[in-house]
Amino acid sequence: MARKQDVYLIDDLERHASVVLPKMVRDYFNGGALDGCSLRANRTAYQRYHIRPRALRNVKDLQTQIKVFPDGNSIPFPCAVAPAAMQKMAHPDGEEATARACGGYGTVMGLSTYSTTSLDEVKKAADAARHTTGLKGPSELVLQVYVFEDRSVTEQLIHRAEACGYKAIVLTVDTPQFGRRLTEIRNGFKLPPHLKMANFPDELGVKTGSELRTGDLEAGKRRTLSASGSTANKLDPSLTWDILPWLKSLTRLPIWLKGIMGAEDAILSVQHGADAIFVSNHGGRQLDQAPPTLDVLPGIVKAVGGKVPIHFDGGVRRGSDIFKALCLGADMVWIGRPVLWGLAYDGEYGVINALRILEDEFKECMMLSGCSQLDELGPHLLVEANHKFSKI
Ligand code: LAC
Repeated sequence: MARKQDVYLIDDLERHASVVLPKMVRDYFNGGALDGCSLRANRTAYQRYHIRPRALRNVKDLQTQIKVFPDGNSIPFPCAVAPAAMQKMAHPDGEEATARACGGYGTVMGLSTYSTTSLDEVKKAADAARHTTGLKGPSELVLQVYVFEDRSVTEQLIHRAEACGYKAIVLTVDTPQFGRRLTEIRNGFKLPPHLKMANFPDELGVKTGSELRTGDLEAGKRRTLSASGSTANKLDPSLTWDILPWLKSLTRLPIWLKGIMGAEDAILSVQHGADAIFVSNHGGRQLDQAPPTLDVLPGIVKAVGGKVPIHFDGGVRRGSDIFKALCLGADMVWIGRPVLWGLAYDGEYGVINALRILEDEFKECMMLSGCSQLDELGPHLLVEANHKFSKI
């Protein structure tokens, strides 16, 4: 294993993770759907913008804290940890380590429905770490959910999350079925037998879509997910916007919609009562030809007109990526794979490493571009990389 002090960049965490993770797990975390077009495009989109620095603007005291919930904590900078499935495949402490890192760091954690640690234990770990660090108030977590054909399964998850103090429900809306991830199919991806989907009773036999899908292909049949498994863990491909009032009738928690990729759906989200929008193409794991999230962000920001907060993810590996997304109107940025690589590298401390690298880079980017407050960020600070300056 490489020396721990060799980590300066998120890329370093990725490299270390690629050494320690078994191929099946590495491919599952790193892969995208089909050709990986959207996966790559999420990353390259940031390169299309340069940041135009301003000079002599007193950047001695930077203010980067922000509240995700109006009645809640200030987090150190506008970056939180996105939901990502089955984290015990990355490190034996799994989601508990991520929760300790987020709790102690004072940022928000998104927990996947497909967690290998139960949502109650994750909340306890985050609260304990927050307490140990001396931060006031409870930790802040949000629960990502799918709506299953047996809706009572989703309903129970939401009730449990509300009862143990989660702050929002994040409905993933880009997954009527799982995307076709070829590496998972080729590797015969399966949750290792010593792990379990800890948010569900064992008897439901919950698997991920790709695991079910692998079996389908091996059998030489091209069945859809809904043709296999019990209804308890089948994603419901018949969902429409009517799902929002149903979710709202179950809980007083805010409902965020994750996977919004255009102005029309952003407007529909607001009209149907969503409390926040999460711009995401699921890390390039669903529709492979989806555009990069950075490209659809400005249109969504304009359409929403400040009515609800806009969360954002997709290919963030640098503090300057966060800066660019905020300049284009995102309120909050979330990171997925960097956290999994941090976990693989060194559990809780690896996740803290990932957050610290991004916080340092983000603050340096603010300072060197002449910004001391988050509300100074805007599109005026970005220039397109191939922009032709007028000849003076
Ligand atoms: C995935 C699901 C579980 O992308 O979110 O694999």
